[in-house]
Amino acid sequence: VNFDHVLRLQDFEPFARDAMDPSAFDYFTGGAADEVTLRDNVAAFARRKLRPRVLVDVSGIDTRTTMLETPVAMPVALAPTAMDRLAHPDGEVAVSRAAARAGVLMHAATFSSCSLEEIATAAGGPRWFQLYVHQDRGLAEELVTRAAAAGYRAVVVTADLPVPGYRERELRSRFVVPDDARPGNYRDRAGVEEVLGYLTHNIDQSLTWSDIEWVRGLSELPVVVKGVLTAEDARLAVEHGAAGVVVSNHGGRQLDRAPASIDVLQEVVDELRGDIEVYLDGGVRRGSDVLIALALGARAVLLGRPYLWALAAGGEEGVARALELIRAELENSMALLGVTRPDQVNRAHVM
Ligand SMILES: Cc1cc2nc3c(=O)[nH]c(=O)nc-3n(C[C@H](O)[C@H](O)[C@H](O)COP(=O)(O)O)c2cc1C
Repeated sequence: VNFDHVLRLQDFEPFARDAMDPSAFDYFTGGAADEVTLRDNVAAFARRKLRPRVLVDVSGIDTRTTMLETPVAMPVALAPTAMDRLAHPDGEVAVSRAAARAGVLMHAATFSSCSLEEIATAAGGPRWFQLYVHQDRGLAEELVTRAAAAGYRAVVVTADLPVPGYRERELRSRFVVPDDARPGNYRDRAGVEEVLGYLTHNIDQSLTWSDIEWVRGLSELPVVVKGVLTAEDARLAVEHGAAGVVVSNHGGRQLDRAPASIDVLQEVVDELRGDIEVYLDGGVRRGSDVLIALALGARAVLLGRPYLWALAAGGEEGVARALELIRAELENSMALLGVTRPDQVNRAHVM
């Protein structure tokens, strides 16, 4: 694929549409119900404006930062996404290689189509493991133990999926998981991988905040809670020993009518007052979106669909190109905002 005309992350989407099976594309792109939250994630960023400062020496831009003490090249990471082989036969292995080349943190998902060990072996970049807790708690114990052994540096518990959201595009296009995209983490467990339905419908709906302490006890790794949208839950995350939260509505795929993530970031940040790190995902498409999130107090943001489109369009090279684009946009926007490092971005930079 020739990426000459790909100038922004969203330019990958039509390539992905062409490359993918239509029902898999619907699974990637769609959100829950009327997709109000899905659309608002992007629209809410556009409603916000930056306050640029001029005549600042911006000759030495440095985008590096840390995420829970893990050094990363920029405050942009790759969100956990299930079954990346739907996009490209190389799946998460390609994502892992592109992320490592860019020095960017990636998440391996519980439902990744490559196993967490394959993802770790593919490249030595910074990586966190996303955990879904099943009724069979032994599965979570096993996954966390394996993730710690494979060099993952945090466990990210996804808290907003006690049940899958009502995703009508998937229902309409009768999406079924093809054999080669099935979750790779369970291959050795006979029976469990029979149908993906088993996995998604056996997520433990009785999971509560006290189980965050249980997850912490499974390894030495810090635990991050993904899917927090209120000050109340942010406080509970601290009380139960989380090292960070991801302000997220799961890319508009879970509760439709949940707020756009950027609209509740300030509420969460104000509650936490620096107690733990705050990340955000949902609708981040531009370098300027990254800066708006940083100005409102996020440590870093995660990209979801944009890198999946890039993966579908061009495998490892596609994801590498996507990361180059967002990095170039971020550097350009930082210079024009009048900052040289992520930690210089503050509330005064956003209206
Ligand atoms: C196809 C797809 C699969 C996803 N799978 C997971 C998953 O397995 N676990 C999880 O915590 N989040 C999952 N997410 C949510 C992402 O981690 C992230 O919250 C969201 O995509 C961010 O919004 P964006 O797509 O607008 O960037 C998935 C998102 C998409 C689009």
